[in-house]
Amino acid sequence: MKRIAVYPGSFDPVTYGHIDIVQRGRKLFDKIIVAILNNPAKKALFPVDERLEMLRESMSEISGLTFDSFDGLLVDYVKSQGAQAILRGMRAVSDFEHEFQLALMNRKLNREVETVFLMTGMRWFFTSSSIIKEAASFGGDISDMVPPNVLQRVRAKLKR
Ligand code: PNS
Repeated sequence: MKRIAVYPGSFDPVTYGHIDIVQRGRKLFDKIIVAILNNPAKKALFPVDERLEMLRESMSEISGLTFDSFDGLLVDYVKSQGAQAILRGMRAVSDFEHEFQLALMNRKLNREVETVFLMTGMRWFFTSSSIIKEAASFGGDISDMVPPNVLQRVRAKLKR
């Protein structure tokens, strides 16, 4: 049986922290589906299509990946893809409570789906999509937190 995980998130935009989790996740899973939640309620900097493009560009050298977007419950999406697990990255302790709640709720909704957490690499401990957007919007240098293609798109978007 192939071990398949869904790596869900907003990816608005993808960062080196996400790429690190996927690279390490591939050692555990044969295939990873990187999936963006299509959430009209959450105001995003990039539309889903552009986020997908950035993911594809940034992870083109990693094998065994597919890219998608989904609506509705994550566990339903996981089952629909024939996957067994949800992959999530955990940064500082501040992530823990939210991630714990999410994992427990997902387990309650479907006991067949397991959540697997990978600790973020030390280098990416303080990297998050929100913080890089904020820093970039005030002219801060985010070049060591996102790949060059993303950097270019963030700069272009914020200039408008
Ligand atoms: O990158 P994010 O914003 O931390 O990702 C959050 C995400 C997409 C993993 C989470 O919001 C999610 O799975 N949403 C889909 C709805 C759902 O199933 N929620 C959990 C149980 S209520």
